[in-house]
Amino acid sequence: MSKFMDWIDARFPATKMWEDHLSKYYAPKNFNFLYFFGSLALLVLVNQIVTGVWLTMSFTPSAEEAFASVEYIMRDVEYGWILRYMHSSGASAFFIVVYLHMFRGLLYGSYQKPRELVWLFGMLIYLALMAEAFMGYLLPWGQMSYWGAQVIISLFGAIPVIGGDLTQWIRGDYLISGITLNRFFALHVVALPIVILGLVVLHILALHEVGSNNPDGVDIKKKKDENGIPLDGIPFHPYYTVKDIVGVVVFLFVFCAVVFFFPEMGGYFLEKPNFEQANAFKTPEHIAPVWYFTPFYAILRAVPDKLMGVIAMGAAIAVLFVLPWLDRSPVRSMRYKGWISKVFLLVFCVSFVILGILGVQAPTPGRTLLSQVCTVLYFAYFLLMPFYTRLEKTKPVPERVTG
Ligand code: HEM
Repeated sequence: MSKFMDWIDARFPATKMWEDHLSKYYAPKNFNFLYFFGSLALLVLVNQIVTGVWLTMSFTPSAEEAFASVEYIMRDVEYGWILRYMHSSGASAFFIVVYLHMFRGLLYGSYQKPRELVWLFGMLIYLALMAEAFMGYLLPWGQMSYWGAQVIISLFGAIPVIGGDLTQWIRGDYLISGITLNRFFALHVVALPIVILGLVVLHILALHEVGSNNPDGVDIKKKKDENGIPLDGIPFHPYYTVKDIVGVVVFLFVFCAVVFFFPEMGGYFLEKPNFEQANAFKTPEHIAPVWYFTPFYAILRAVPDKLMGVIAMGAAIAVLFVLPWLDRSPVRSMRYKGWISKVFLLVFCVSFVILGILGVQAPTPGRTLLSQVCTVLYFAYFLLMPFYTRLEKTKPVPERVTG
């Protein structure tokens, strides 16, 4: 075996990669459960790719046959139902995991220097993931697939001068048709998965270049032993590979419960109108995107003017990209930031959830007002950050990580 590995290592850096990224990658010893979500995101990514490949084997990407081919997968293809439910529930699981993963970053200031690129690659993954989910949702060619895409694509029409031509270019037709379905299929199945995989590699390479942050936000590289190993670091393998298995087991219990017992999740994971085939002549009573887009959809609807709404929605995502340069705090972790940062993060999270709930509901004057308040609070968290992070009193950060 060792001779075989020598032969490989003389030609390919297998052992070096294993050591650099696992057995000799020293991660802070104080990771908590919030650090499970990075590896869980990897697990869900693999689940989406594997189930996606198998679904593609029986799916027909044409306006005439797509809907029926999904029904065929559900009823006739052996284990087709489980592949489909793993993929559709996997999409929602992906966003739950990624939102918690991002929340951990906000909580512990993981986007701060020197991890700005880790955050930026993460944000590009998030953008690509939204595009991937949006295009995937058109494929079953149900009523909500069709009308959801109709609403979102028509938003580009609000752009002055080029709007009309741009929507037509995206659709490839004067209205959403089989041509749109076909190109979304190509992008969903081939192009975007390649982009996402590439970005995940860059994300992890950037992280391993600078090293992981931790719940204390303490730089563990400052205190090393005589061999140059951080005193507060432990090898990722076996310590965290084993710890991550605990997270995987808990996740799989919940995920299996959803796949086997609540695959539609009361219409949130698979919306009710999508059990009816797309019909260009019949608009569903109430069009709402899937839950993971609704916070941004609520921001769009909170602004009375269509173009301004589109700009606000774009800005809500764009502002996350510049987050590393908005936070001027001398400390990373929320544990040592002042009370203003804590209140703002809490208000931001509550606003995001309320916007998400409002986005699935039909608008009323009261709900619109609430969504406007939450939109202001959402942006206040970011736009006031350069001020409150500089003004507030922070606590002293310990030299070494705490328990
Ligand atoms: C497919 C999606 C993603 C995958 C597979 C992924 C994977 C990972 C992994 C394996 C880690 C190391 C383990 C950990 O710290 O939890 C990590 C760290 C990190 N990720 Fe992601 N990630 C994804 C999306 C994102 C997104 C959308 C963001 C934010 C915009 C993000 C920001 C970060 C940050 C800041 C860290 C460093 C955290 C720290 O050291 O405290 N990631 N990611």
